[in-house]
Amino acid sequence: MNESIIKFQEMITLGNHYSLDFFIDETNAMDCFNRYEWKPYNPLKESKRYGLSLTSLDGKMEGVPDLDSLYEYNKNNKTNYREMDFNKPTELFYKIDGLSTFLDPISHLLGRSHILKLEQGGFFPPHRDLDPETFRLIVLINKCESPYFNLFLNGDPLKLERHILYFLNTRMEHSVFSYERCIFGVFNIKVCGESLDFLRANLSSK
Ligand SMILES: [Fe+2]
Repeated sequence: MNESIIKFQEMITLGNHYSLDFFIDETNAMDCFNRYEWKPYNPLKESKRYGLSLTSLDGKMEGVPDLDSLYEYNKNNKTNYREMDFNKPTELFYKIDGLSTFLDPISHLLGRSHILKLEQGGFFPPHRDLDPETFRLIVLINKCESPYFNLFLNGDPLKLERHILYFLNTRMEHSVFSYERCIFGVFNIKVCGESLDFLRANLSSK
């Protein structure tokens, strides 16, 4: 069996979602976000989503194509970008307190990552992230609280605590709907033995 499939299987023996030892300071993070211009996320779709790049192709924060749907961007532009091509951290990545230090051991395994803002009524319809190369970390930052923020995993409501970084098995069907403006972060990390070791070493409950 392919190495990354085996490593991902090992990751989910720890759970389909589990918290890591990293907390976002919301006040600091929001101050950082306010210094940048939010770009439309997946601009071809009207779904009230905006983003700030934490990584991109060149470390800039233009949002193109890293804040687009890679599938659709590649199809429309005859390109073949993959999550791991977006591996240059942006200025914002280094500004968020503690983030670059925490992720330093796996900085070379960091792929497409961003902060997302959903306006009132913003959503991600049910889907699966099936890229076999990467897994996802997620951190809910501003608002993101039930009943106004709804995250579903495999059809069930999932209540994650704000400010804590989680592993999330997004190969399972998941969706998000928000009744108010909310902000959260999403990281793509390469699946491999090193990233598995990093998850194990940084579980908040060992
Ligand atoms: Fe997803």
